[in-house]
Amino acid sequence: MEEIHTQVVIVGAGPAGLLLGQLLQREGIENVILERRSREYVEKRIRAGVIEYGIANFLEEAGAGERLRREGLVHHGVEIRFERTSHRIALSELASGKAITVYGQQEVVKDLVELRLLAGAPLLFDTEVKSIDGLTSDQVCVVAEGTDGTVRITGDYVAGCDGSFGVANRSLPASVIRRCERTYPFSWLGILAEAAPTTEELIYCRHENGFALYSMRSPTLSRLYLGVRPEENLDEWSDDRIWHELNVRLATDEMPEINQGPIVERGITAMRSIVIEPMRFGRLFLAGDAAHIVPPTGAKGMNLALADVRVLSDALLARLQRHDDTLLNAYSLTCLERVWRAEEFSNYMTQMLHPNPHDEFENGVQSARLRQAVTSLEASTVLARNYVDLNSL
Ligand code: FAD
Ligand code: PHB
Repeated sequence: MEEIHTQVVIVGAGPAGLLLGQLLQREGIENVILERRSREYVEKRIRAGVIEYGIANFLEEAGAGERLRREGLVHHGVEIRFERTSHRIALSELASGKAITVYGQQEVVKDLVELRLLAGAPLLFDTEVKSIDGLTSDQVCVVAEGTDGTVRITGDYVAGCDGSFGVANRSLPASVIRRCERTYPFSWLGILAEAAPTTEELIYCRHENGFALYSMRSPTLSRLYLGVRPEENLDEWSDDRIWHELNVRLATDEMPEINQGPIVERGITAMRSIVIEPMRFGRLFLAGDAAHIVPPTGAKGMNLALADVRVLSDALLARLQRHDDTLLNAYSLTCLERVWRAEEFSNYMTQMLHPNPHDEFENGVQSARLRQAVTSLEASTVLARNYVDLNSL
């Protein structure tokens, strides 16, 4: 069995784990990242696309912003569409000049993997963590299975950045945690299409048939979503049916049709909200999806994960460089205050934009909320500020 000793063991090479590794490594803190999937797999996994203002700045400060600044699409507004009418939320005007950047999560991952490999820091792909022990003893012990056999890594701390189905959140004793959860009665069917975006800004749309979202990745790639039933079967959605339904939901008199092109990726994602409290037990710290899930309607998942790591890296540096554990002790509470704000915003966006075919009362409330969001300066200002920069407010 291979044995390694390090200061911080990082489980998971998603955005959270990779950024934490980068922030610690450049300050001279040794760390090892363990990832159960291959490099190719994590670099191709298509997920989130919207990066908040403060998070984009933070990625740049961390040394991971060069391509993001060059290729990311800066958006100063977003559209809310309902009853065949589009309403623009002027994000930058309402949120002190701040803007979002549209840049795929897998691009963030590629940039961080490249930085890691250039630095020669350990990043073990195809290595699945099986157990995390020693959380309340002098050192943690993480055991993983890799292609060359078992690896045993000891360290001062372990960062659980391995998503909601990983091993880290299951390593907290059930008696110390509270898990708050909500499952929504719809899912998203997402596609990536080789089609030039029809519009310049994202469109969040409520239609009586269901939710639709128009997003993009580049001047030649569109990313679109349809709200569907949770039990929906992808095989029943031909390309024609997907494009037809997108056209029906998104149509306005000014934009009766959207650009179409070959669909190069498709999938269905369930919509859930989860918060695990506290985000720490002994020497284990949870960050990102391992600690919380938001429904994607607020575009907060990856931003929350990166914001957790901003707090955790400062706290670990204070402890490991200056023997000051004040920030580590405050980690969970510091994060949870922001996490719950993101949960609230994601829930608000979700509940406003997904019609419920069986609940006319709910639909009436949704229409009132939508009208308020686009006509009241106060309501649109709150929406804009939360959308653009919730994690740095
Ligand atoms: P992850 O990106 O999930 O990374 C965790 C890593 O840990 C993974 O690479 C995993 O392979 C690895 N891992 C797991 N278990 C182990 C183990 N035992 N040992 C070693 N490694 C392990 N958010 C949005 O804002 N918009 C979206 O459109 C959107 N779409 C999504 C679609 C899907 C299918 C999913 C699952 C999430 C989506 N999200 C979206 C949420 C967003 O992508 C996440 O919030 C973000 O990935 C969180 O980053 P993370 O680093 O915490 O976790
Ligand atoms: C995306 O581009 O994938 C995207 C954009 C906004 C969201 C969710 C996903 O709210």
